[in-house]
Amino acid sequence: MKITVAGTGYVGLVTGACLASKGHQVTCVDVDEEKIKLLNQGKSPIYEPELSELMEQNRHNLRFTTDYVSAYRDAEVIFIGVGTPEKYDGSANLSYVYGVAKQIAQTAERDCVVVVKSTVPIGTNDKIESYIHDKQAHNVKIYIASNPEFLSQGTAVRDTLHASRIVIGVTDSYPAEVLQKVYEKFEAPKLVVERRSAEMIKYASNDFLALKISYVNEIANLCEIVGADIEEVTEGMGFDQRIGNQFLKAGIGYGGSCFPKDTKALNWLANFNDNEIRTIKAAIEVNENQKFKLVKKAKKYYNDFLFLNIAVLGCTFKPGTDDLREAPSLVNVPLFIEDGAKVRVWDPVGVENFKKRIPEKIEYCGSIEEAIAGADLCLILTEWDEVKNFEVKKFEKLMKCPIILDGRNCYRLEQFENTRITYDSIGRKTVNADLYTEK
Ligand code: UGA
Repeated sequence: MKITVAGTGYVGLVTGACLASKGHQVTCVDVDEEKIKLLNQGKSPIYEPELSELMEQNRHNLRFTTDYVSAYRDAEVIFIGVGTPEKYDGSANLSYVYGVAKQIAQTAERDCVVVVKSTVPIGTNDKIESYIHDKQAHNVKIYIASNPEFLSQGTAVRDTLHASRIVIGVTDSYPAEVLQKVYEKFEAPKLVVERRSAEMIKYASNDFLALKISYVNEIANLCEIVGADIEEVTEGMGFDQRIGNQFLKAGIGYGGSCFPKDTKALNWLANFNDNEIRTIKAAIEVNENQKFKLVKKAKKYYNDFLFLNIAVLGCTFKPGTDDLREAPSLVNVPLFIEDGAKVRVWDPVGVENFKKRIPEKIEYCGSIEEAIAGADLCLILTEWDEVKNFEVKKFEKLMKCPIILDGRNCYRLEQFENTRITYDSIGRKTVNADLYTEK
């Protein structure tokens, strides 16, 4: 089929490449000329495993352009995969979505289905439909369908090719038939639902996962107080299939471009409708506090941070991505610098983005060894494999004062027995707690 995808971010580009791999003729359109230039050179503007290879293998089915007129004019299906960032009041900024809708209205010259993949507040598809129909320049039928995505950064290609489910939200049968055809070669359960239900499935799923993480983080905080071990607790919980064993990893809070934004957007939507969604409100509040957990822990060991050498391992919001949006590193590192500490950062792929976001003076290191050498404190903010597989004895050998504050529970506690390393993680007992405590 002839498909156009608007937006070449994580959602748009991955969707485009995956659709091309199933034999569709895909045009990806974006306003960003630099991005399109890169894509036309065969390079992906985002770091996403397997994406460049997929683009390369399906080059014959993929076209990249900034020329939206040629992209929308005769497309059978148009996916909207542009961003819906958070506004100051927590609501979703829909200006990019409407920008694309306007272009489609002006240029579509054949009957087509516009598929909204961007995460949009419930009821937005209805509004887009009226908007396009009002502004339509040609006498053609334009249908609107909601088709939320459930891909995670770092595993986006796999999540799309082997989706947990494909949700198709429609108000009549024709667009549903078209989307069934688009996804014919995708092996995944396909659900055809009301359009507003599809929009809600996306928010309800993301917010439930965020809630699960905040819940587990609160249990972890209590574990520290009462002497239980969160890893054992979540393992025990996970055997219950009604709970499941995923998304029970305690840490310094969720980040990324989705959970923080989507929890706030649903909360905003509830408030706007004179309603309250207290569980989500609590999840947001817990997460905001959790991000500062290591700063609080650091105060147990140092009265102040002036001239302290601090090693930071990992700055992205999770491993497998160079994305820093809402990453705990963005709030933690400036706090230590403000208090006079000298910070060294190691991250395998996130450094360039970090430099753009945090202009303060930071030393960037090419290896974990270099980052921790002579350090008074080490903060682990992202559970990269390089960190998880790092020989812990080296912390003792290389750090001036081997205190590790692990925000991602990368190691087993036993690994620190018989060492002179203080290992303080989330929701577990601290190993060698009193070795370096300042009185
Ligand atoms: C999330 C969802 O997982 C996807 O299903 C969804 O499609 C996507 O948002 C989206 O709306 O586009 P993503 O933000 O890429 O995907 O990353 P996740 O793997 O969900 O992680 C989000 C954050 O939660 C990370 O900071 C991670 O460290 C944290 N997390 C995750 C935990 O703290 N504990 C866990 O058990 C799992």
